[in-house]
Amino acid sequence: MSARESYDRTFNLLEAHHKWFQESIPLIASENISSPAVRETLASDFGHRYAEGWPGERVYAGCSYIDQVELLCIDLMKRLFDSEFVDVRPISGVVSNLVVYTAFTEPGNVLMALSIPCGGHITTGKKRLGGTAGAVSGLDVRYLALDYGELNIDVDETKRRVRKLVEKGKPPKLVVFGASVFPFPHPVKELAQVFHDIGATVSYDAAHVAGLIAGGTFQDPLREGADVVSLSTHKTLFGPQHGGVLSWSKYADKIKRATFPGMVSNHHLHALAGVTIACAEMLEFGQDYTRQVIKNSKALGQALYERGFNVLAEHKGFTESHVILVDITKYGDGGSIEETLEKANVIINRNLLPWDIKEGRHFMHPGGIRLGTSEVTRLGMKEAQMGEIADFLKRVVIKKEDVHKVKRDVMKFRQDYMKVHYSFETSAEAYKYMRIR
Ligand SMILES: Cc1ncc(COP(=O)(O)O)c(C=O)c1O
Repeated sequence: MSARESYDRTFNLLEAHHKWFQESIPLIASENISSPAVRETLASDFGHRYAEGWPGERVYAGCSYIDQVELLCIDLMKRLFDSEFVDVRPISGVVSNLVVYTAFTEPGNVLMALSIPCGGHITTGKKRLGGTAGAVSGLDVRYLALDYGELNIDVDETKRRVRKLVEKGKPPKLVVFGASVFPFPHPVKELAQVFHDIGATVSYDAAHVAGLIAGGTFQDPLREGADVVSLSTHKTLFGPQHGGVLSWSKYADKIKRATFPGMVSNHHLHALAGVTIACAEMLEFGQDYTRQVIKNSKALGQALYERGFNVLAEHKGFTESHVILVDITKYGDGGSIEETLEKANVIINRNLLPWDIKEGRHFMHPGGIRLGTSEVTRLGMKEAQMGEIADFLKRVVIKKEDVHKVKRDVMKFRQDYMKVHYSFETSAEAYKYMRIR
């Protein structure tokens, strides 16, 4: 392919992707759609600049407007999370966790977190799995206990594991609450003191639930005992892909130093401007938005359950967040079901169930699927539409209907949900391809 052909092809692929998402039901729990206002920031000149250092103390010229935006971002985040200190420079959730590891641990220290099958993220993974904590930061990863029925951390069993580690002379130095499958608030209040008593730092990975916390509809980790909170800005918090770290003033210096010069040089200033806009939207609309997200995920859980799906944690109303977990083993494996649903324009992702590895299943073909309602809620859907979505899933997964037929109906259904809601300005369609060439 010539250079010009590759150039044209790339734009064609981008436009095709936009059209596809305009016609699909996006249910990936780690994703969302940002407003046209946020998307405008991503095309700004900020994306060409550097601003190493802290606002007002940069080691680059040309930062006067960038500094003002970064200070606005810090101020908005402090208000959203009621946080004494905020560093908005980490460029992603992974980098935010690396900042936490760098600020609060040394290689060889013990970190406790949930394992990946139990909902944990690869950033808290062991070295042999290539996890960031083990393979990059040299931490010795041990697991928090999960109660499979409750889909939450088992407080008593975790206390027992901590005691055992202390007895063995390996007291945890850092505990990371939070997860990638995060349907119920974690017992931070119940366990923070246990970790503080042995001199450990309590961290909370809010990559998934940052928006819910900002909207005041989930737990409040800083008030419950967390020393530090790491973020992604693009899951339930509906900004562009970026990160952030929240903490108390007494930890500001070590977090700032871990971020720069530790983890970032440029910090993706166009995205930072987008985060600022998203935070302003969150401050204004966050409570309404996140309440609807949670209502929708509960409604989706119920609707799927009534249609024959094995949605986990039924006795607890399926979820208190944006995410539900479905045991799909009756109908196939998560990998092939993900692929089939994609052909019907229903975008979900496969997910390990807590017991999958013990039962011999693999992350490519796990027993579960994970569904999130953040993006469909942003498109204006309410509880009634969760029933319609559950119907589409049933037609594909249980009734094994022709995917092309379902896809046509999905495309028709989507035509009523073209705009981004919960934002100040919504003139452009949600997935409109913005051409400025
Ligand atoms: C719990 C958790 N932490 C961290 C991350 C990484 O975030 P990012 O993709 O912003 O690097 C994720 C991503 O899904 C996550 O689920």
